[in-house]
Amino acid sequence: MQLRIIFRLLVLSVGVGSLILTGCTQENTSNPTDNTQASSPTSVAETTAQPSPPTPVPTTPATPTPNKAPDVVYVPTPEVVVNKMLELAKVTKDDVIYDLGSGDGRIVITAAQKFGARKGVGIEIDPKLVKQSQENAKKAGVSDRVDFRQQDLFTTDLREATVVTLYLLPELNVKLRPKLFKELKPGTRIVSHDFDMGDWKPEKVVKVKGDAREHTVYFWTIPQQVPENLR
Ligand SMILES: C[S@@+](CC[C@H](N)C(=O)[O-])C[C@H]1O[C@@H](n2cnc3c(N)ncnc32)[C@H](O)[C@@H]1O
Repeated sequence: MQLRIIFRLLVLSVGVGSLILTGCTQENTSNPTDNTQASSPTSVAETTAQPSPPTPVPTTPATPTPNKAPDVVYVPTPEVVVNKMLELAKVTKDDVIYDLGSGDGRIVITAAQKFGARKGVGIEIDPKLVKQSQENAKKAGVSDRVDFRQQDLFTTDLREATVVTLYLLPELNVKLRPKLFKELKPGTRIVSHDFDMGDWKPEKVVKVKGDAREHTVYFWTIPQQVPENLR
């Protein structure tokens, strides 16, 4: 009888022990450290980042190539007018000249070749004209000092310019005006063939006789402060 009771007690204690042991095992698998890591997005990201994914290739180049239509058609400025524009702007070897809508590159190339400009940049939306400008620069021997970029003149960074030349349209000049005031340094000279800048009155206006007609060249300097009426 006593032996039977002892045997039952033994069976009972083995059962409880195994229950305790099973519980311990379960507790061990749900280690708090593991839980923290599993619920952490950082940790998941780190885990999935092994091995590291391929470097993403940008879908747009650093300088985006515009595919918008030109805002104005190509009409070249006659050489006699080009010379007058550069004379009026007093271009020297210290200047960085930007032609916005540079066509075949003639203004920038003449500035580098005849006036010794340190650097010339032509901004042109038409890729064929950009290519033609590069070929013209090569022929003129100034490729090392000029740069023709296929860009939209309304998004180009103008900050390094000391002279800006334009042959656009009156409404485009006015549209461009806030950008000129924002990005150009005080003292930067601007010359425009045939078209003014609306309420921004020019400092000089010069007439030039061309083969077919009389041309007008307008001249401005970026002031220290933008006049109240032009803000
Ligand atoms: C009237 S032509 C002047 C060309 C050159 N500046 C000259 O005086 O001989 C205007 C030029 O601006 C270019 N153009 C028009 N819209 C433009 C834009 N948004 N950005 C850059 N170039 C543009 C045209 O393709 C054209 O070559």
